[in-house]
Amino acid sequence: MEKHLKRLPEELLSLICVSGDIAGHLGFRAYLVGGFVRDLILGVKNFDLDIAVEGDGILFAEALAEKLNAKIISHKRFGTATVTLKPHLKLDIATTRKEFYPEPGSLPVVNKGSIKDDLFRRDFTINTLVIAINKDNFGQLMDLFKGKSDILARKVRILHNLSFIDDPTRILRAVRFQKRYDFQIEPNTLKRLKEAVKLKMLFAIEPQRLRDELILMLKENEPLRALKRLEELAGLSFINPDLKLSGKTEKFLGSCQDQVKWFKSKFSQHRHLDSWLVYLAGLLSGLDLEAVRAVCERFVFRKGEAKRILEFFLLRDKLLVKLSLPGLRPSSVFHLLEPLSYEVIILLKAAAANKFAHVNMENFFHAYNGTAIYLRGHDLKGLGIAPGPHYQKIFRRVLNAKLNGKVKTVQEELDFVKKLKNAGTVARFGKENSNG
Ligand code: CTP
Repeated sequence: MEKHLKRLPEELLSLICVSGDIAGHLGFRAYLVGGFVRDLILGVKNFDLDIAVEGDGILFAEALAEKLNAKIISHKRFGTATVTLKPHLKLDIATTRKEFYPEPGSLPVVNKGSIKDDLFRRDFTINTLVIAINKDNFGQLMDLFKGKSDILARKVRILHNLSFIDDPTRILRAVRFQKRYDFQIEPNTLKRLKEAVKLKMLFAIEPQRLRDELILMLKENEPLRALKRLEELAGLSFINPDLKLSGKTEKFLGSCQDQVKWFKSKFSQHRHLDSWLVYLAGLLSGLDLEAVRAVCERFVFRKGEAKRILEFFLLRDKLLVKLSLPGLRPSSVFHLLEPLSYEVIILLKAAAANKFAHVNMENFFHAYNGTAIYLRGHDLKGLGIAPGPHYQKIFRRVLNAKLNGKVKTVQEELDFVKKLKNAGTVARFGKENSNG
């Protein structure tokens, strides 16, 4: 495998070498594991390094972070840590462990173990490949479960027949890997997956664990493919009893994919979008508000996440009508959209059939979003306007004028306020406020 490693970017390779050296100094053995190795063999770019340490993963991570002057977050209870060098360069470190499931679908009991024990607990053969990184065996591949031949034959295969019973979230993982890489789920794995579905194992686990896997699925590039396969194999009733991928929902999800791609192609450098959340709302789009609320509660989505999802269902009809009006001024578009999250706006854009609505939302992203005025309270004071709640109304007027292209510079903003004052508008604002 050394030649595969040598092809990695210099920065990554030297990080791997330093990690191996540190493990050696501490008397530990360290290995690259999991998705990183799988993707290395597939030739897929993946800079998320997973390192398993036979010894003490946290001690190793601390020594590595100190040497590289990097940030570290450790979870002592799990023997894991994340060392972050740059936003796009991080290492997940784990102490090798042995796991067993006391009951189907429960969380596993975890003890320290060897690298072999660590591999036995994994989901699919494609994720069991390991590359040693200590100096004395740097680059040596360990392939206990014929993972490499499964990767080359493009097969998702479980390690043992009870895998999906032990951990039903693997049903979602199998589908995710199949669709991401265009693999096949091999026949015995498929049979065992279907058995686990029949035994209703997806209803037997903590919803939060399913939620995390569902989010990973929705973070894929084209989640619709995976969702369709998931429905085919397991149905979607574990999310909501009435949930189906109807033609309408599929079409809407397709449209969400287009809009997410559009957003990423234009704004991904500066603005973050939780695309998974767009897809989740898209998936639930055929349900009514109460059913969506129940899904958010059962899967314990965080407050901010649930709020964004529900906001779409609460506002979509009203906002789509308003946004579709011809001749809407930029300031009106701004006040309709500015309070919303990007995810909700992308959902609205995916749902909009009207041309004006599309143009309004595109203009919002390109031009209006983030518009701010120069003037502050002391500028108004300087114009002889006594402070009070009417300041907010004046600022809003200036902002609208700016959005509608009537003012640009600080001086133009000041002149605009002077005109409001002379026309008696400022005095009227003051009176309105004092009348409550
Ligand atoms: N794993 C598992 N069972 C699970 C979750 C994870 O066996 N329910 C194992 C897999 O072997 C996986 C490793 O833990 O390779 C790390 O999990 P994760 O980071 O979710 O997966 P990756 O393989 O790194 O995949 P991705 O490329 O999606 O990050």
